[in-house]
Amino acid sequence: MNRKEFVKTTGMAAAALAMMPGTQLFARKGTAKVRIALLGTGERGRNHLDLLLRRDDVELIAICDVDDRVLKLSREMIAKSGKPMPEIFTGDPYAWKKLVETKKPDGVIIATPWEWHKPMIIGSLEAGVKYVGSEVIIGISLQDHWDVVKAAEKNNAHVMMLENVCYRRDVMAVLNMVRMGMFGELIHLQGGYQHDLREVKFNDGQHVYGHGVEYGEKAISEAHWRTEHSVHRNGDLYPTHGIGPIANYININRGNRFISLCSFSSKARGLHNHIVKVGGPDHPNAKVNFKLGDVVTTSINCVNGETILLQHDTDLPRPYSLGFRVQGTEGLWMDVNKSIYIQDKSAKNDQWDNAQVWFDKYDHPLWKRWSKETAGAGHGGMDFFVIHSFIESIKRQQPTPLDVYDAATWSAISPLSETSIELGNQTVEFPDFTGGQWMYRKPVFSLGDEY
Ligand SMILES: NC(=O)c1ccc[n+]([C@@H]2O[C@H](COP(=O)([O-])OP(=O)(O)OC[C@H]3O[C@@H](n4cnc5c(N)ncnc54)[C@H](O)[C@@H]3O)[C@@H](O)[C@H]2O)c1
Repeated sequence: MNRKEFVKTTGMAAAALAMMPGTQLFARKGTAKVRIALLGTGERGRNHLDLLLRRDDVELIAICDVDDRVLKLSREMIAKSGKPMPEIFTGDPYAWKKLVETKKPDGVIIATPWEWHKPMIIGSLEAGVKYVGSEVIIGISLQDHWDVVKAAEKNNAHVMMLENVCYRRDVMAVLNMVRMGMFGELIHLQGGYQHDLREVKFNDGQHVYGHGVEYGEKAISEAHWRTEHSVHRNGDLYPTHGIGPIANYININRGNRFISLCSFSSKARGLHNHIVKVGGPDHPNAKVNFKLGDVVTTSINCVNGETILLQHDTDLPRPYSLGFRVQGTEGLWMDVNKSIYIQDKSAKNDQWDNAQVWFDKYDHPLWKRWSKETAGAGHGGMDFFVIHSFIESIKRQQPTPLDVYDAATWSAISPLSETSIELGNQTVEFPDFTGGQWMYRKPVFSLGDEY
């Protein structure tokens, strides 16, 4: 299959499947269970582990990590579940290669530090794995993103970025409303990652969150690796929770595409101030110069005329909010004030309705059908759906509803915003990873209630 055919078929087959009633769907031929391997069993990996262990259609065949602390926690979880203990690969940073090459899993789930995603995705594809689900961010440089796309095409395999916010209940109710035309024609969208990570970027090497201001070798979990990105890089380092839902609202790569992007960065104060406040002015880390601006603002324009504003804001005191705004010719949703206004339909002219009233009415079919199964799943239940979609795609041997082009397009915002800032806030061109196929591909994400 050549590149053009691959891009086309991934879009079309997924659309057809998502609309098929459950009775016409068949479990994967030959075996009832999907054989899954998990690379990285840190904080996020163990969320996925929990969801995989709950499913009767999954056989967890192998896990891999380089840290005995998290492997011990994983073993305990698996033992408690009563499921068979998978083979454990550890001991060196490339143990995962041996795993994918010898175990030949049906699907691999990756939950390691960002810089490992590209080699693990490509290494899995080259080993013959046909389904790879990677945690958010699929590469560091722009070239990494092209490499992942080319590897998926060459191996005729599926790469799904596990962007869970696309499945958030309010986000999906809004998707339902968008598709029904409730907001009219969409004009402007906002979102971002606005999450105070100061106690994630630093810890004491014992506790995962907070209790100290160490990072790197002296710290564990994300403080062990993520903080280095704040030292060395300036851009929107975590764009996908904001852009994923937005891209689905306006059919990016499916009749629409991003054309260009421009980013601005504020000064950096938050991380330094946190170190001084918690560790004192004489702590060695008080001398570190953080390159990442506290608030990075990115504008994107689209071929169909919409504008998008994204914000990355992780170093200052603030309550969590992704800051969504979906605005069309008839009205808008804003998630910060949990409000919707639709002209001629809202209760009062020029006054906000409580968004929940609309969400109850327009709950997405996926949530209506599966809300019982989401109980106890991470992030308010939405994590259930992202794993569900990945596993169901493998069972049906069909393209994943979020594909490699979505992954590359959303994640590439990081290197593109770094370039824009480096060039003095120049507008940079957005690459078309689909090679022109965006004009023909159809929306496929969550068209029905299957997955
Ligand atoms: N979607 C979400 O809501 C969400 C939430 C949290 C984290 N994440 C993402 O999940 C990923 C992991 O984050 P985390 O919070 O679990 O970090 P973490 O540091 O807790 O876990 C990462 C794990 O990867 C392991 N690892 C590192 N190099 C490895 C290698 N070469 N081989 C095998 N294992 C290796 C580490 O030992 C660690 O246990 C990141 O991409 C992060 O952005 C997503």
